[in-house]
Amino acid sequence: MTTTESSQSLMPTLAGHYYTDPAIFALEQSRIFETQWFCAVRSADIAEPGTYRTVQIGRESVLVSRGRRGEINAFLNVCRHRGARLCTEQQGQVKRSFQCPYHAWTYGLDGKLIAAPNLTDMPDVDRGELGLHHLAVREWLGYAWVCLADDPPSFEDTVVADVAERLGGAEEIGAYDVASLSLGTRITYDVKANWKQIIENFMECYHCATIHPELTEVLPEFADGFAAQYYVGHGAEFGDDVQGFTVDGSEGAERLPGVGEHQNRRYYAMTVKPQVFINLVPDHVVFHRMFPLAPDRTLIECDWLYHPDVVASGTDLSRSVELFDRVNRQDFDACERCQLAMDSRSYAAGGVLVPSEHHIGAFHEWVRTRIGEETRSHDRAS
Ligand code: FES
Ligand code: FE
Repeated sequence: MTTTESSQSLMPTLAGHYYTDPAIFALEQSRIFETQWFCAVRSADIAEPGTYRTVQIGRESVLVSRGRRGEINAFLNVCRHRGARLCTEQQGQVKRSFQCPYHAWTYGLDGKLIAAPNLTDMPDVDRGELGLHHLAVREWLGYAWVCLADDPPSFEDTVVADVAERLGGAEEIGAYDVASLSLGTRITYDVKANWKQIIENFMECYHCATIHPELTEVLPEFADGFAAQYYVGHGAEFGDDVQGFTVDGSEGAERLPGVGEHQNRRYYAMTVKPQVFINLVPDHVVFHRMFPLAPDRTLIECDWLYHPDVVASGTDLSRSVELFDRVNRQDFDACERCQLAMDSRSYAAGGVLVPSEHHIGAFHEWVRTRIGEETRSHDRAS
């Protein structure tokens, strides 16, 4: 058909419209984000009973909150009376119930309908039937993962297996004890690009030598263009004169207690489908959650996590944070630059993947299968 077939070293990408078409995005929302486990909220952000956060998952606003017994609950953020959005703030705290601002229906922290004006006049009302719509929740790595599906896939076989496969074993991430870490810094990026651009960029390092001068200084092997994710279980080694994973290679914080010798002075990176990236370095963890909001807009909440003693001591973390903050900005600029061209005639049939990017092809196949799209991208565009 095109150069992609006559040359074994190049593979086709998705066609440009996959990154702009509202119909494709709608399928991704309903068949990916609303069916998979979605990493929604950092558990420590809702530490006290009654604290909550609202997040966008697929087409739904979701309310994630801490219950009276310390459990985490997730609900569709919709009043069961006439459908008003229950909580409009991104985060907050209620005393012991959520009250709808429209007609004052009141729900307990467990989602049960507990009061409604004049409800006693309606003896036939079954309050149990009118509670908030519950969603499946799992806590892992210090985050609440939510699944909107009625019949969620096994968390172990999807999320945990994804991480274990990438790292060459589940115990590898256990060494970092991610759930025990404290938040050092959080930066939220509002990126004008399709979520798939961001995943694809994160999966490859062909761009590292061009746009990441600080990162390739710390991880010299990245200058060759092979991402840590390219090989199963591979950690990229720090350069000889690098002391820590910081913007200038200066010393970082103390090594996390469980991190083994084979993990010391190494950087591991992984994508957890569909919307999480995790970076592991000896003294901290960088944890990204993406929230796809529109075909050309994605919000990314990025947490820098350290040993609780490091955060409590007030250690200056700025050089540590600045390294990956720069990397993020460099990456997201590149994603925005590509997004601008997705509707161009020149990209109607897509582009090509070079050998060090071929594993992105498996991600494209995964997306296509999930959304029930069997047609090859260049067939469809031709
Ligand atoms: Fe919520 Fe009426 S819509 S109480
Ligand atoms: Fe990058």
